[in-house]
Amino acid sequence: MSLQRIVAVSKDPEVQRLAQQCGREVFGADEPADALDIVRTVNPNLILFDHRFNPGHVREFLNRADKYSIDIPVVIVGGNDSDTELSAEFMQMGAYDYLQGRQDYKQLERIINRIKNKSGTTDRDPKRENKRLENVSEKNTSYFFAEDLAGSVSMVGKSDAVLSTLKMTKLVAGSRCNPILIVGETGTGKELVAKAIHTLRHPNEQFVAVNCAALTANLLESELFGHVKGSFTGADREKTGLLELAGSGTLLLDEISEMPIELQPKLLRVLQEKSFRKVGGIKNITCNATIMASSNRNLKNEVQANRFRRDLYYRINVSPITLAPLRSPQRRGDIRLLAEYFLKSSTICPEKRNKITSLTKLAIETLEKHDWPGNVRGLRNVIERAVLLETTDKIGLSGIIIDPTECDEISDSPTTGFIKGFSLAKAERELISRALQKTGWQKTRAAALLGITRATLYAKVKQYNIERDLYVASNTAVEEQNGASVSSLSEPAAAL
Ligand SMILES: Nc1ncnc2c1ncn2[C@@H]1O[C@H](COP(=O)(O)OP(=O)(O)OP(=O)(O)O)[C@@H](O)[C@H]1O
Ligand SMILES: [Mg+2]
Repeated sequence: MSLQRIVAVSKDPEVQRLAQQCGREVFGADEPADALDIVRTVNPNLILFDHRFNPGHVREFLNRADKYSIDIPVVIVGGNDSDTELSAEFMQMGAYDYLQGRQDYKQLERIINRIKNKSGTTDRDPKRENKRLENVSEKNTSYFFAEDLAGSVSMVGKSDAVLSTLKMTKLVAGSRCNPILIVGETGTGKELVAKAIHTLRHPNEQFVAVNCAALTANLLESELFGHVKGSFTGADREKTGLLELAGSGTLLLDEISEMPIELQPKLLRVLQEKSFRKVGGIKNITCNATIMASSNRNLKNEVQANRFRRDLYYRINVSPITLAPLRSPQRRGDIRLLAEYFLKSSTICPEKRNKITSLTKLAIETLEKHDWPGNVRGLRNVIERAVLLETTDKIGLSGIIIDPTECDEISDSPTTGFIKGFSLAKAERELISRALQKTGWQKTRAAALLGITRATLYAKVKQYNIERDLYVASNTAVEEQNGASVSSLSEPAAAL
């Protein structure tokens, strides 16, 4: 039993651990003064507040939360010695509940059940939900999460483009529309929308996905429909296809435009007849799944170029859900929110998570100016890299490494979207190597420079197999490469 998002206000790792037991995403605030900002940013389902901050802090936090109309349960994490007087005092202030100690998992689970039951009944009230959607742009919180619509999907954004996508998502999810088409450039969030619809329609059923670009026609056919034993050379066992595996859940056909043309009529038949046969089989199997298809390409153009069947196009293009590119004027406003969200939810350097609190104005302006050919995924990568590189409490311009070749690297192929030859792992390896060289392999100093613990440093050195002698050679190569393409990587080196 867990909640999507918990904010733990405490310096104590035990309280963080308690939150991690029950939250899929946990955000920490070391001080009550930072807590409200984080809460407003991430809009959690629960706030755990350490009782060791003095009651005045709790009172102040609750009052300020009230001012911002934040209605999120605050549970006080008490000491192991139960103190009824203290717990009563907190409850009077408006706390939701009180835990007897930092390992009171049982009571926390009961509280979570209560919260879930409460939100379960309200979230599913369609009238309330529609009203809330109408009012969403007036909300005080900085973010709007699709999760409010759909279980565990965190879709951040409050731009007009995202709000209208979310409205459409909800309408389609609430209808009987099947198949469902989701279109948008790479990294715009198509899979996120697919999962949101799935969670809204049939949260307890299977979600299966297949990338139509990744398999040959024969393999894709047997992946989708399954096959009977002996139906072709190599079919030595019966195979259940994804259409059957999805049951009454969802089958997502990713990159539908890449489906081999000879397979397209077979898919069309399933969509029309709601039944299919395994390859080589004679038994009709009923298809109960919601079929979703996503595409980076303009399917109409594909039809005109005779790469996509017109009849299939009309069958799937009933109520398409469109995701705008991040650079579009209707969505650009979300860049800052997304950057802050990715900063707060980054897991790349757990030790730094609470230390890096924000981005500088210049850094944000730079992000806002970029065209983001890799869209939200590209932005997420840049923020993760910045977290890795940053040694202060704010991400500054020097941490924002936007690969100048990124635009060229995004080819017309729908399968791309990443920067070729440059990865987060490479950046991490390089930075660690530099820190070690700078400090003459004094690991304590290197760890301090990197803002990580010695234990993490040891683990990373092992993970990347960084050796003293090897380092000299590989670093020279990296320096050359940086000079040529990723010039801003030299800035953090200077900082070191
Ligand atoms: N609005 C959003 N809020 C938070 N994260 C997002 C949002 N949109 C996308 N992301 C994140 O960006 C990444 C890419 O999203 P997703 O996989 O859904 O894109 P896609 O459109 O399916 O891309 P592709 O076409 O390359 O398959 C994921 O890590 C996803 O969680
Ligand atoms: Mg996708």
